Amino acid sequence: MTIIITGARGQVGQAIISRLHSAGHTVRAASAKPAELTVPAGAEVAELALDRPETFAAALAGARQVFLYPEPAGIHELIKTAEAEGVEHVVLLSSSSVLGPDAETDPLASHSLKVERALADSDLTSTFLRAGAFASNALGWAHVIGRSMPIQLAYPDAHLAVIHPDDIADVAIEALTGDSLSGRTLTLTGAESLTFREQLAILSAAIGRTIPVEQITRAEAERQLAEYMPAHMVGSLLTFWETASHGPDAIGDTTETLLGRPARTFRQWAHENAGAFTQH
Ligand SMILES: NC(=O)c1ccc[n+]([C@@H]2O[C@H](COP(=O)([O-])OP(=O)(O)OC[C@H]3O[C@@H](n4cnc5c(N)ncnc54)[C@H](OP(=O)(O)O)[C@@H]3O)[C@@H](O)[C@H]2O)c1
Repeated sequence: MTIIITGARGQVGQAIISRLHSAGHTVRAASAKPAELTVPAGAEVAELALDRPETFAAALAGARQVFLYPEPAGIHELIKTAEAEGVEHVVLLSSSSVLGPDAETDPLASHSLKVERALADSDLTSTFLRAGAFASNALGWAHVIGRSMPIQLAYPDAHLAVIHPDDIADVAIEALTGDSLSGRTLTLTGAESLTFREQLAILSAAIGRTIPVEQITRAEAERQLAEYMPAHMVGSLLTFWETASHGPDAIGDTTETLLGRPARTFRQWAHENAGAFTQH
């Protein structure tokens, strides 16, 4: 049985591919840019750009299980092709933002919500992994920390129960290869709520150097974020962090509650990735 992993260059995709392959499953790594992919020897590679339906049929041929990154642009064509090719089950990397009150209109949430709805209306069995913020979002600070500059945040006390991408991969693998999670909707988080300040204190300990934190205005944060993010996403993200400043984040499903093994901590992620914050 072939399992296809879309978004194969992504962190969750990479973790799923290497573990499934090591466990002896037939894995096809599907990416918009297959030439830039690194996969274990023997794993299949396919070109699949989720917004280019002409790439779907060849990539999905013979697959029964699909790990899907959320991209609404081609979702109806993707579902049609998957059904025609005999795909049985889709495990979607969705987002906990779909639970927000404005999910229909919020640019971050509606992206995943449209894909969930299209899958729910299809004949495919779907498992929705509604992930909270990834621990690996901290890599966005790497360049600044590497240059020993302060991290500037409009909402340094925003709480997030960040999840280690490997925990998402573990849950996805269970859903792709077992029966216990198939067809369920899961809200995935890490096991502890941490403010940005607390994340940065943990990162400081991991790299052996204090990382200064500087609070800036929302307007200044808007200007900074707009340099590498579409404007309509910037307001949405800042409002999310503002709301998250009101108190601890809710803890959702974790590898502990779903798979019976401890959730990886942000401290663990920070130690594994400390090198990314010192090599600049
Ligand atoms: N980050 C979060 O906090 C968070 C929280 C909840 C849900 N999510 C969802 O999870 C998905 C992935 O999140 P992410 O963006 O943080 O993960 P990511 O691991 O950075 O990967 C995202 C995608 O970008 C492509 N990609 C990977 N490396 C790339 C590179 N070097 N250059 C260009 N493209 C690259 C990959 O697709 P190809 O291999 O096909 O190019 C991959 O699907 C998103 O769709 C998001 O909605 C994220």
